[in-house]
Amino acid sequence: MNEPERERERESERRNEPARFAGLELLASSVLLVDALDGVRYANPAAENLLDASLKSLSRQTLAALFSNGGELGALCAQARAHQYADLRQDLALERPGRETLHVHAIASALGEDEVLIELRENVQQLKLDREERFLDQSQANKELIRNLAHEIKNPLGGIRGAAQLLELELPPLHLGELKEYTQVIIKEADRLQTLVDRLLAPHRKPHIVGDVNIHEVCERVRSLVLAEFPHGLAIRRDYDASIPEFRGDMEQLIQTVLNIVHNAAQALASRIALGDAEIVLRTRVARQVTLAKVRYGLALDLHIIDNGPGIAPEIRDRIFYPLVSGRDGGSGLGLTLAHTFVQQHLGMIECESRPGLTDFRILLPLP
Ligand SMILES: Nc1ncnc2c1ncn2[C@@H]1O[C@H](COP(=O)(O)OP(=O)(O)O)[C@@H](O)[C@H]1O
Ligand SMILES: [Mg+2]
Repeated sequence: MNEPERERERESERRNEPARFAGLELLASSVLLVDALDGVRYANPAAENLLDASLKSLSRQTLAALFSNGGELGALCAQARAHQYADLRQDLALERPGRETLHVHAIASALGEDEVLIELRENVQQLKLDREERFLDQSQANKELIRNLAHEIKNPLGGIRGAAQLLELELPPLHLGELKEYTQVIIKEADRLQTLVDRLLAPHRKPHIVGDVNIHEVCERVRSLVLAEFPHGLAIRRDYDASIPEFRGDMEQLIQTVLNIVHNAAQALASRIALGDAEIVLRTRVARQVTLAKVRYGLALDLHIIDNGPGIAPEIRDRIFYPLVSGRDGGSGLGLTLAHTFVQQHLGMIECESRPGLTDFRILLPLP
């Protein structure tokens, strides 16, 4: 083929491209077409979305310019070209300057001599692990901060309360009634802060009592506790997998964990309880091959606590496991923080999905 011929062919190809790519436009997975020099010639809308760039801006770039480690993807394309028509797959972490790393499963297929079609599928599992890891780091730092702060508040608090008591004894009898009101405010507020601080410090102070735990015993205890508090209008349905084995753990901590979650659900269900159709489901299942805090387990307990309440308010949804985040008047915002800490101490994971009508707290714990 001489030069003008080649030029003509390219020209016609370009004109034909809309037809050639029509099917790719509708695909949910991201597709890039690169030429012999790894320059992007085409990107479907899903790819534009994934890379957060328009076709126009993409098509002026090479893989090496798009990703700081674009060489890896380039190498995959080179291999695809060398084998021609065979497709090659690889999990890649594509680094982008100033952006979140993209974890993708990449499939490269050669289309003739030099073009390569690259399919990119986001690796959601990896994304989740990354988020979880970042959250763990962050929550660890938060907890340390809170603990130190709590200690700093705790120390002078005793002094303040004691001084107020002494002051009360020294009040002139003539004004005792009105002045005592003030010292009582100091004492009561000091007590309230003391309780708060104790609760902040509590999870780290209690000894860990390890024994064989039957998760259904835990669920049953919580169920009867909550039903005693909400005897009418609330159904707590059990959906147990009886084959779940016992595991080593601290039963009291796990009861507290499940209780905090079920209790929140019951509180959120207030208006449905009044109507009489409030429901909480306790579901236990076995999960296989799960990764918890970077460790892979063959078996895990998969516990769901599901309610049909209004859902978690969107403004706090991302932060509910942080200390002092509450959506209720008079809430301490510590219930879920404690649950998170206890689950972590059992090497597990806790997460939540919520929309109006369905809130699902999920706890995963390693099983023997
Ligand atoms: N099942 C649920 N449905 C709706 N909102 C919930 C649910 N569970 C938790 N929440 C929200 O998360 C907040 C934090 O819960 P928590 O840490 O137990 O603190 P507290 O109960 O003291 O407010 C609650 O105040 C509530 O707004
Ligand atoms: Mg609570």
